[in-house]
Amino acid sequence: MEQFIIKGGNPLVGEVDISGAKNAALGILAAAVMTDDTVLIENLPNVRDINVMLEAMSEIGVKVDRISPHAAMICGADICDVSVDYEYIKKIRASYYLLGALLGKYKKAEVPLPGGCNIGSRPIDLHLKGFRALGAEVTIRNGAICARAEHLRGSHIFLDTVSVGATINIMMAASMAEGRTIIENCAREPHVVDVANFLNSMGANIKGAGTDVIRIRGVEKLHNTEYSIIPDQIEAGTFMFAAAATRGDVMVRNVIPKHLEATSAKLIEIGCEVEEFDNAVRVVAPRRLCGTNVKTLPYPGYPTDMQPQIGVTLAIASGTSIVTESIFENRFKYLDELARMGAIAKVEGNTAIITGVDRLTGARISAPDLRAGAALVIAGLAAEGITIVDDIVYIQRGYELFEEKLRSLGAEIRLIHDEKEARRFRLQVG
Ligand code: UD1
Repeated sequence: MEQFIIKGGNPLVGEVDISGAKNAALGILAAAVMTDDTVLIENLPNVRDINVMLEAMSEIGVKVDRISPHAAMICGADICDVSVDYEYIKKIRASYYLLGALLGKYKKAEVPLPGGCNIGSRPIDLHLKGFRALGAEVTIRNGAICARAEHLRGSHIFLDTVSVGATINIMMAASMAEGRTIIENCAREPHVVDVANFLNSMGANIKGAGTDVIRIRGVEKLHNTEYSIIPDQIEAGTFMFAAAATRGDVMVRNVIPKHLEATSAKLIEIGCEVEEFDNAVRVVAPRRLCGTNVKTLPYPGYPTDMQPQIGVTLAIASGTSIVTESIFENRFKYLDELARMGAIAKVEGNTAIITGVDRLTGARISAPDLRAGAALVIAGLAAEGITIVDDIVYIQRGYELFEEKLRSLGAEIRLIHDEKEARRFRLQVG
């Protein structure tokens, strides 16, 4: 079983390059099967979720040519099966994007119903509501969602809750429906915009992505394109908080600073200096940081995917902070692990009250999910002594070369497989 072993205490200093956005890539890969032409996708992050998504696509007959770790040629001309296997949806929820993509292209699709996950129950009722509004008959049979339509017809759809997944899934299906679709109260996340831009580069007619009303005029066919995915704002934000929590000085490169505004604002509020460049941000934490209050919200609010990272940082800031999680109901599990490192936090409903301590001390802890796992690594980097993080498979789902990138900033972190390697690390770091 792989683990990270960390000797904390080094401020992170230097420059780090951010990979392509995982969540944008998942939508874009699914959308790429909507044409029979070959599509080139660049700036793909080389992470587990993407590799599983590509496998799921190969399995239904999509030709996937991984021409480099960060680029793939995708051809959906020979899709032989419009049903995705449960094995894939179990590993990666976002393979449900194939539902919208295949329904749009073939007017039929079958994808197993994703269950809940570590961060919450995660219903997909809004996706299904959207498909039904477009004229599809949607049934749940033997654990799978079956969507079928004679014709998909444009419609006026109001989303009750702001949902990234529903916005992207409906947008894909509507791109190849007859006539005009209007989606109201849609998500404005950068990856929604990236998927819309990608579809438009294939000949779709989508307007308004990035606002809360998206207007789509359906087209009959989509065509080939070459497209480069936006940088990952959550990976970038994670490194920004790693710099802050270790009182470091890091230039985070290959980012779109506009996408990081909510994160930058919070970092400034707690005492960091944040300098913006054209495609980089520099975070400097010259002294002990101070507490604040934060509430997660849909974009452009503070992202739920950055909640554990700020939580960990506030655990060593001065004063008491209140963190409110308004998107997913089960995103504070990392605080139990953090308590083992000496943090003081109390969870009441969707709120955590965190009282900053002077320092955390290393402990053996487990990653409860992807972002919480990354946040606990940050805790280990800021703590005194040795931390071992279990279940790092979660972290590997979404962070490319995480430990290498951290090491390049001066972190003492290794991926280990057994106790022997742990001992060797302890001897090396003294
Ligand atoms: C996406 C991101 C995830 C991020 C989340 C919120 C991907 C692959 N994942 O997840 O990393 O944490 O956005 O920014 O992009 N909801 C419903 N019914 C639905 C759909 C959603 O009630 O049909 C609710 C959810 O339970 C949640 C809220 O809407 O409370 C937002 O979820 P959503 O934006 O859909 O998240 P995902 O797309 O699953």
